[in-house]
Amino acid sequence: MPKRQRDSEFERRFEKKSRIGEGTFCEVYLAEDRNQSGRKCVVKTMRPEDKCTDEAKTEVHALLALRNAPNIVKMIDYTPQELLVTTLPAEPIEVALEQLDMNLLEYLRKLPKPQMSMDQVRLVMRQVLRGVLSCHEKNIVHRDLKPENILVQMPTESKPSGNIKIADFNSAKLPNQKWPSDRIYTSLWFCAPESLEQREGCGTAADMWALGCIMAELLGKPLLRANTGDEKANRKKQLDLIYQLCGVEMQHHRMMWDGVKGLKATLAKRLDLAVDHDCIDLMANLLCYDAKSRITAAEAMKHPFFAKF
Ligand SMILES: Nc1ncnc2c1ncn2[C@@H]1O[C@H](COP(=O)(O)OP(=O)(O)OP(=O)(O)O)[C@@H](O)[C@H]1O
Ligand SMILES: [Mg+2]
Repeated sequence: MPKRQRDSEFERRFEKKSRIGEGTFCEVYLAEDRNQSGRKCVVKTMRPEDKCTDEAKTEVHALLALRNAPNIVKMIDYTPQELLVTTLPAEPIEVALEQLDMNLLEYLRKLPKPQMSMDQVRLVMRQVLRGVLSCHEKNIVHRDLKPENILVQMPTESKPSGNIKIADFNSAKLPNQKWPSDRIYTSLWFCAPESLEQREGCGTAADMWALGCIMAELLGKPLLRANTGDEKANRKKQLDLIYQLCGVEMQHHRMMWDGVKGLKATLAKRLDLAVDHDCIDLMANLLCYDAKSRITAAEAMKHPFFAKF
C-alpha cells in the first residue's frame, strides 16, 4: 500500500477537534475515532525535526512494548506505519492514544485543599508504581516522571476508584540503549542525584527517585524545587537541596551520607504530617541518595504503606 494512502487512513480515522496541549516539539489534540463510533481519543503530533524524530520513535517503541501493561496510557495507532523500520522523510509522526481526563498536576491544582488525603496518596502512588514496574520489567526507564506526565481518569460509576496512567515516553531509555551520562532528561525537580552528578550507571533507580519527589507533591509538601538563575546555577542549587535533605557531605574527598535512618528523621520534621510511619519510611527509601540501595518498584509495591489495600 503506498505510504500516502496509509497516512490518509490515519487522518480519515482520527478527526482532530481541539488542541489541548503544546510542547516544544509536539501538539496534543482531542480527537474522535471514526472506527469506534466517534469515541473520544487524543492525537499527539510530533514535528519532524531530527531530535524529535528519534524521540517520537522512542515513544512509539515504548508504547508498543507496553501495550498490554496496566497503568500505562494505551496507544490506539500511529503513523507513518513504516516509522520503525526505515528512515523517514521529514514529516510529522502522530500517535493516537486513549483519552484520560487531565494530568496529575491539573488534578492537584483543582483539589479544594493543597494536598491529598493519605488514602488518596496511597491509591495514586500504587497505580503509578504499578505502571513504573511494568516499564522496569521490560527494561524501559521512563526518565521523565513528573505530575504533568501522569494522567488521571476521574472516578465513574463503573470504576469508582478512577484510574492513573503514565504517559509521555519521549525521553524513555529503551532496552539495550546506552545512557549518555552528560544529558539530563528529567525536569530538574524530579531529577535523581546520580543524573545531576553525571555519574555513570543511572538506570531504573532514577525513576524511583522521581516517585519520591512526586509523593511529596501529592502530600502538598514539595521538597526539592530549585528555582534560581540560569540552568547551570539551578542544577547546582538542586543538588545542594538534595545534599541538605539527605545529609550528604564531602569528607576526606568522599561523599558521605547519613543513610535512610537520618533521612527518615529529617522527612518527619520537614513534612510536618500527622506522621504516618509507613509513609515516611517509603519516601525515605525512594529518596535514598545511594541509587544502588534505593527501593525498587517491585519492593515498593510490597511496602507496608500499601498494606491497607
Ligand atoms: N492520552 C491523553 N489524555 C488526556 N490528556 C493527554 C493525553 N496525552 C497527553 N495529554 C495532555 O497533553 C500534555 C502533553 O502531553 P505529553 O506529556 O505526552 O507531551 P509533551 O510533554 O508536550 O511532550 P514533550 O515531552 O515532547 O515536551 C499532557 O501533560 C496532558 O495534559
Ligand atoms: Mg509531557
